[in-house]
Amino acid sequence: MSKEQRGNWGSSVGFILAASGSAIGLGNLWKFPYQAGRNGGGAFVIIYLAFVILLGFSLILGEMAIGRNGKKDGYSSYEHLKKGWGKVGLLGIITSFIILSYYLVIGGWIIKYLVDFLTNQMTNDTTVHFNSFISSDYSPILYLVLFLVTTSAIVLKGVSGGIEKASKIMMPFLFIFLIIIVIRSVTLPNAMVGIKFFLQPDFSKITAEVILSALGQVFFSLSLGMAIMVTYGSYLPANTNMVKSSFIIALLDTFVALLAGLAILPAVFSFGYEPTAGPSLMFITLPKVFEQLPFGNFFGFIFFLLVLFAALTSAVSLLEVSVAYLVDKRKFDRKKAVIFLSVVLFILALPSSLSFGRFHHKIFFGQNFFDFLGYLTDNIFLPLGGLLLCIFIGFVWDKKEVEAEVTNNGKIKFVLLKTWLFLIKYIIPIIIFCILLKSIGIL
Ligand code: PHE
Repeated sequence: MSKEQRGNWGSSVGFILAASGSAIGLGNLWKFPYQAGRNGGGAFVIIYLAFVILLGFSLILGEMAIGRNGKKDGYSSYEHLKKGWGKVGLLGIITSFIILSYYLVIGGWIIKYLVDFLTNQMTNDTTVHFNSFISSDYSPILYLVLFLVTTSAIVLKGVSGGIEKASKIMMPFLFIFLIIIVIRSVTLPNAMVGIKFFLQPDFSKITAEVILSALGQVFFSLSLGMAIMVTYGSYLPANTNMVKSSFIIALLDTFVALLAGLAILPAVFSFGYEPTAGPSLMFITLPKVFEQLPFGNFFGFIFFLLVLFAALTSAVSLLEVSVAYLVDKRKFDRKKAVIFLSVVLFILALPSSLSFGRFHHKIFFGQNFFDFLGYLTDNIFLPLGGLLLCIFIGFVWDKKEVEAEVTNNGKIKFVLLKTWLFLIKYIIPIIIFCILLKSIGIL
């Protein structure tokens, strides 16, 4: 297949926006603030930052290098470098597909809230509002289909004409809107209590649970361990400085997570609510805050619009991983691949959507279907993918080739090259391994 048919990024800014678009998503805006709220605020944030520095940047760079070298989907890029290792890429592709199936459900909820704020239909009792919506049969499915169709339409238009273009439009708005909401939140009365909770670590609150959650969150938020950066890296030209790009992507993602915390937690504290609500923080607690603000509907609308943009650019990357696999390896044309995958995704998303209503029974290891998928991907598949990635780069891929790939054949000065290799070979796998044992209950 010629390069043109496969697709390429139009520019390096476009690539960085698309890759950050993948990283910045519900993980930053929805999950990070509630995880911080539930896991002791600053204690969680500091462990999270330590993991981003220690392994976030390194793994992004590693995945990207594999993709650019292999120039193919997640499976074929690994396989091209070493026969038999394509399975690691395949694990990533399957993981991203599973994540997308439940990501769609939340994406649908976001659209519903956007519509409610726009049409002034947010009710005072946000708990009832949320619970009655998510537990109904049809309405959440309708919204998830809307979200799915939008995602598919973008992916259908290809790499530079669809994904890159959409990211270039949506990402700048996301930043602007987020800053507006942060300014609103931190200037509320008593906002300082929330800011302190979020940024001042209380070290006594660091527990194994907090560490485990922080690691899972880093993987999820940076889109690691599931061949996303391999796929996005495969559309890169040979002269891109991947060291710099990886650094910028990790930085932007972390920046947005911190901003999201500052957008949500000070407001929650200011109105006297608990930060520990968990997943419902954004859907029950935050709308209560908007309800009480002057021009609350406006702020609510802006907020959910930015979350929608973030969610879409991430969902697009999740879908692209599987599309690339079908196009590169199975010789589908892009349109057929997108339509086929969308239908399968729709079917797979149904039990997740119904997990909050008709299908709420906790029959999957004590969890409902939705929670079970989340647990499986965040705590097992993603770390496992990350671990195998480290082993692959550290011990399987020829060291000279690795070095040549990340430094563009010596043209780029990467002063931390040796440190990076050392981290990937020894430190990161050990950390992930311990945490993996912990998450399956052995440690
Ligand atoms: N990183 C995205 C987020 O923070 C989610 C995601 C996970 C996207 C995995 C792609 C792959 O929401």
